[in-house]
Amino acid sequence: MLSRSAAELFIKILKVEKRPILGFATGETPKLFYEQLVMLSTPDLLNAWKNTEAFNLDEYIGLPPDSPYTFRNYMYSRLYRYVPIPEKQIHIPNSSPSDPELECIRFTEQLKFVGKRHVQLLGIGRNGHIGFNEPSHTLRLHTHIVQLSEETRKQNAAAFPDNVSVPSEAITMGIGDIMDCDMIVLLAFGPSKRLALTRAFSGTLSTECPASFLQLHRNVIVFTDQENVI
Ligand code: GLP
Repeated sequence: MLSRSAAELFIKILKVEKRPILGFATGETPKLFYEQLVMLSTPDLLNAWKNTEAFNLDEYIGLPPDSPYTFRNYMYSRLYRYVPIPEKQIHIPNSSPSDPELECIRFTEQLKFVGKRHVQLLGIGRNGHIGFNEPSHTLRLHTHIVQLSEETRKQNAAAFPDNVSVPSEAITMGIGDIMDCDMIVLLAFGPSKRLALTRAFSGTLSTECPASFLQLHRNVIVFTDQENVI
């Protein structure tokens, strides 16, 4: 199973590294990955989790801290409630920052301070976005505020009940932040991701397909059920 194989790569890092630094993603795609990661986290890994630093790619802006729709809640309900990682080692942008620009600077500084991630999990948007780096004329290197495209808001609406709208803004790691890791594990399942994957690994770079910059990373592993896309 693809999600299990991806989870096994993370487990290997937990076993080998004294101070694992892991990067996580949210969305529909990695749900099974987290189930597998929890299942594979046997008691001999308790200390490894205690020494882990974990970062998330992004977070909506404008949701109260106790909202069930934050990516923070997604991560706690799927992973952090099951593994003994200390709260101070969990890094997710604040969903209701008093000063969003300052929150971006704080998050970028944290990334730099903790150091290069051993692995970064990624999904991909149908429009080729990674994290919340949307197609645009320019892309940013570091953590910044983004206006979400209507397409992305529609796609993510499934995670929200009808009467709560998807926020229009988010904080996301920039492309440089995403790439600053030893290994990228990209999960892309289902026909809706086929075009984005094809564009991402077409041999050309385009800010209109942010995932295409992954071609510049030396160690990207793609887990996909698509045939002949790459
Ligand atoms: C979201 C997230 C991304 C995620 C992508 C795909 O907007 N910010 O990190 O990879 O969209 O999500 P899904 O797996 O639900 O298709």
